[in-house]
Amino acid sequence: MSHSIQVSVTPRAQTATFSKDPPWLSELRLRDNSLWENVRILGTQQRHHLSERVTYVHSDVLKWLAELPANSIHAVVTDPPYSVIEYDEKNHAKLREGHGGVWRIPPTFDGANRRPVPRFTVLSKEEIVKLHGFFSSVAYGLLKALVPGGHVFIASNPLVSTMTFHAFMETGLEKRGEVIRLVQTLRGGDRPKGAEGEFSDVSAMPRSCWEPWGIFRKRFNGTIADNLRKWGTGGLRRTSAKEPFKDVIVCSPMRGPEKQIAPHPSLKPQRLMRKLVRAALPLGIGIVYDPFAGSGSTLAAAEAIGYRALGTDSDQQYFTMAKEAFKPLSLLQITDKH
Ligand SMILES: C[S@@+](CC[C@H](N)C(=O)[O-])C[C@H]1O[C@@H](n2cnc3c(N)ncnc32)[C@H](O)[C@@H]1O
Repeated sequence: MSHSIQVSVTPRAQTATFSKDPPWLSELRLRDNSLWENVRILGTQQRHHLSERVTYVHSDVLKWLAELPANSIHAVVTDPPYSVIEYDEKNHAKLREGHGGVWRIPPTFDGANRRPVPRFTVLSKEEIVKLHGFFSSVAYGLLKALVPGGHVFIASNPLVSTMTFHAFMETGLEKRGEVIRLVQTLRGGDRPKGAEGEFSDVSAMPRSCWEPWGIFRKRFNGTIADNLRKWGTGGLRRTSAKEPFKDVIVCSPMRGPEKQIAPHPSLKPQRLMRKLVRAALPLGIGIVYDPFAGSGSTLAAAEAIGYRALGTDSDQQYFTMAKEAFKPLSLLQITDKH
């Protein structure tokens, strides 16, 4: 089956080019090659070598991070379980049985049935504290695994992002901003339940129109230029010679081919993921890691761009789904339409 969203060619960014390669660049490339050969075979967990430059390991993130040597990852781009509980055993089983739990089926719209979305408004105080604990452990693991100057892009939701981002900052990772994805979801904006007619001018909460992605960086000594020469990290790759990477990305929810290729409940669009992944390696040298890889959208984006990438996910079904989805997702031709 061939999948295509639209014409136009996906740019293959690959590594940065210099008019004459400086000596530090060859050294960086050599180190990167040997690191990659070691890291992709690390541990005994089941894995798919999806291509020469992309590997997906079936593992819990914290177990994998515990095994990963220090300074072995150059960037992290990830879309975690925002409130942790939506992918815990109980709620995940309910989602698969179609019984809800924290997952809610939004009302049918224009005759189309909507996919379930998690309800973050139902989190208890204890669950929010647990969320902080989980993201602290992940952040400490990433802090060790990242090379100095390595960036993290982590997705969240306006209701829980304060807690997630705070947990990251507490570890000593430096907050470098947020990418705001402008996206119209069907979250929020509803009238008070059971009294819609009585309070027709009232919304319980705003209709959400954006998705925050926290940007963090591992601290380093010296200048960005020093760090680029030593580790290949510290900055973000520009969109083009004329345009820096910008922190607002308009990207509507996905319809059509991507959802058919990878029917993960939280699939992220290639149009977004390729921009983030590309920016995460300033020289295009190094390894991008997605701890919560799901159907492999980050990994497919890396493949499309020509970067090395590693993913982990604890769920067997998504691990299997990614094996099938990887090639068609990475080969999708995308336009920059919103
Ligand atoms: C929001 S989804 C990511 C979806 C992905 N962005 C995509 O486009 O397919 C979060 C993923 O984290 C995984 N997950 C949850 N807890 C995990 C853990 N402790 N270790 C590794 N993966 C975990 C879930 O199985 C789920 O696939």
